[in-house]
Amino acid sequence: MTRVAILASGNGSNAQALIDHFKEDAEIDITLVGSNRENAAVLEKASLSGVETLFFSKDQMHSGDLLSNLKSNNIDWILLSGFLLKIPSDLIESFEGKILNIHPSLLPKFGGKGMYGMNVHNAVFDSDETESGMTIHKVTENYDEGDIVFQVKVDISQCHTPEEIASKVLALEHHYYPRIAEAMIKS
Ligand code: GAR
Repeated sequence: MTRVAILASGNGSNAQALIDHFKEDAEIDITLVGSNRENAAVLEKASLSGVETLFFSKDQMHSGDLLSNLKSNNIDWILLSGFLLKIPSDLIESFEGKILNIHPSLLPKFGGKGMYGMNVHNAVFDSDETESGMTIHKVTENYDEGDIVFQVKVDISQCHTPEEIASKVLALEHHYYPRIAEAMIKS
């Protein structure tokens, strides 16, 4: 069984999509959902789905505590799902090539520090782009810079608000993230 930890900071709709997708999977287990925000809705969603949860501070993330916890849980892969902190080098080294992130734009466009959630969709809306999309990529120590594993585009020329763009992109994320993660983990 491959054991997967999800790290998320917010609402957790992608985490929920991952949990639901792998519920009956014989080879992949969503073992843990961790968050740097104690009150993040993702932790409640995970609990309700029967998945173990973990809150950790930024200090615990950088002191090696988070890595120890993941190791003691025999975690093999990490899926970032709306996780807003930079991943420390000890995690990157220990899970080389086995940390994926989802980003709500067509990277390298609209990526980098500060580019998360609605900030991304607001920036896309304020630009003259007629399409947006989502990117799944490997995680490095720099925001949104690892190798791109998968991208899919969506037409936003008829969108009148950033929220409309967000909703289109989120639907793509919920569909593709579990499937691409599964393909990567099983390959
Ligand atoms: C998702 O759209 C995800 O792509 C984005 O945050 C949202 C989290 O939503 N991630 C980033 O912006 C990372 N830079 P969710 O909590 O409902 O899954």
